[in-house]
Amino acid sequence: MTKSWRADRKKDQYYRKAKRENYRSRAAYKLKEIDFKFDLVRPGDRVVDLGASPGGWSQVAAELVGGDGEVYALDLARFSPIERVTFIRGDIRKDSSIARLLEHLPHGADVVLSDMAPNISGNYPYDHARSIDLCEHALAFATQVLREGGNFVTKVFYGDMTKGFVSMVRRSFGEVHVTHPKATRAASSEVYVVGIGFNGARVSPRNASSGRS
Ligand SMILES: C[S@@+](CC[C@H](N)C(=O)[O-])C[C@H]1O[C@@H](n2cnc3c(N)ncnc32)[C@H](O)[C@@H]1O
Repeated sequence: MTKSWRADRKKDQYYRKAKRENYRSRAAYKLKEIDFKFDLVRPGDRVVDLGASPGGWSQVAAELVGGDGEVYALDLARFSPIERVTFIRGDIRKDSSIARLLEHLPHGADVVLSDMAPNISGNYPYDHARSIDLCEHALAFATQVLREGGNFVTKVFYGDMTKGFVSMVRRSFGEVHVTHPKATRAASSEVYVVGIGFNGARVSPRNASSGRS
């Protein structure tokens, strides 16, 4: 962590707000904004949060679903416990992790969230392709587990494959939006693809055979 990066972070209003309001990440405000705009998560919902660590989105999801709802969080990285959030350590690209998630969801889910991001290599076309790969896995999982009418949101590092991915989402959801929350850093190339109203059409990831175990 460089000195200038630390200084920039201190000036960041969302970073300071997250500290003040006890959210684990400034990303919490992106989900709040997306939810406010599209009414994604309702009280009592069963929500899956993919790429959940350190847990800002899971905290917001747990607040939105309230005491009657459930939140299941998945990540490659460790996760400190959050009340009313069940954490599964795993990889969305692996059948074994999906099976562990599905064990908790015999009645399906109302909402699938994904803020997954690959480690940044610095080679943007490569990072974009890996982001799209994660999005496709998130979409495939969402179309496997969502009830009809359910909602989906995923982060994408914007690039030339975004349009093709949005078309895939359109086949399975009644409404699709691409949004750039204010809480996203100005220099960031990320956008969020939001699918409202799952229509039951399942999708399998383009690279379904890679990384499976
Ligand atoms: C930007 S962070 C998520 C921040 C989180 N939404 C929050 O509010 O705290 C992206 C996360 O995606 C996770 N991730 C990346 N690839 C993954 C994969 N294949 N399966 C599960 N999680 C993954 C990373 O480990 C990382 O913790």
